[in-house]
Amino acid sequence: MKKIKIADGLELSWLALGECRRGDPDAQAGAFAIMDRYRELGGDTFDSARMYHDGGSDRAMGEWMRSRKVERDDIVIVTKGSHNAPSSWITTRLTPEEIERDLDESLSFMGIAHSDLHLLHRDDIRIPVERIVPALSGLVAKGKARAVGVSNWTVGRIIQANQFALENGFEPIRCSQLLGGLALTTSAMSGDLTHIVMNDVEFGWYRESRLPLMCFGAQARGWFAARAAGREPKPSPQKFYDPLPENYRRLARLERLSGKLGRSFGALTAAYARDRGLNACVLSSFSSPWQLEEAFEAETFTLTPGEIKYLETGLGTC
Ligand SMILES: NC(=O)c1ccc[n+]([C@@H]2O[C@H](COP(=O)([O-])OP(=O)(O)OC[C@H]3O[C@@H](n4cnc5c(N)ncnc54)[C@H](OP(=O)(O)O)[C@@H]3O)[C@@H](O)[C@H]2O)c1
Repeated sequence: MKKIKIADGLELSWLALGECRRGDPDAQAGAFAIMDRYRELGGDTFDSARMYHDGGSDRAMGEWMRSRKVERDDIVIVTKGSHNAPSSWITTRLTPEEIERDLDESLSFMGIAHSDLHLLHRDDIRIPVERIVPALSGLVAKGKARAVGVSNWTVGRIIQANQFALENGFEPIRCSQLLGGLALTTSAMSGDLTHIVMNDVEFGWYRESRLPLMCFGAQARGWFAARAAGREPKPSPQKFYDPLPENYRRLARLERLSGKLGRSFGALTAAYARDRGLNACVLSSFSSPWQLEEAFEAETFTLTPGEIKYLETGLGTC
């Protein structure tokens, strides 16, 4: 399986597996079946977060590993902590104590000694990077994380943080997790202004800097599939993607390219997030194994720049 390199000896599968509602007791058996199938297909990178189901995702991750007797070193575990307080989107949790406590709790919930890659789930630009970087770096120094990174940070903050890390001998940010699929949205549509959506300037920086990215939202939370089938999307994808007419145009192009190439939506949208010229892996979630298998079809082809351009603009190749 194609991988992207994060640090020496640390790589992520091109298709990383999201939470898949494993922390929801009603969905856990189905999520475990998807995790099993993901491993059978050659994937090894699992995403989790302290805030998913209030630790339930981390606990279920540990339960799955124990029940399948998975060796710790056979998989790559991405943890996330320091999400805003659930009761208030503007109360951030980025003190050194909060950063370390969240990771400690995730490790204890999973029953493991270290995370392969620990990300800050959100940012707060009122807090200088000079206070955050040493805390993150300390997680690596203490052996609790092999590498660190961020999610929902703007590139301006990543540049500041990495300059400070470089000048002061701290661990740099080695990976960023961001919303970045074919369907477009804005922070305001998600109802959470700490949710950062990549813009064109940021896209250019990621393309040039080669900072590894984990792109979520490739399947538009099922929006393309639901609209193509004439079904109402679920409330969250409806809120994210319905308001922009451009998404309907992208859907029409996706349908046309799918017909021409004989590829499923799941494969094309995964390939789109992977093949746009970024150093990116695709972080997706699935509610059934067939959805995962569709995304895995993207292992067998690459979208050309012309096809990417067609999906984005209607020009290019189809
Ligand atoms: N860092 C962050 O702030 C952040 C934010 C969000 C997510 N994440 C991570 O990223 C992962 C993926 O995020 P996401 O759920 O927003 O992304 P996504 O991959 O765009 O959406 C996943 C959903 O799309 C639908 N789907 C997937 N494959 C399909 C197919 N072949 N055909 C039809 N529908 C399909 C399924 O929903 P239904 O079957 O239910 O319709 C599935 O649950 C999460 O699990 C989480 O680990 C991180």
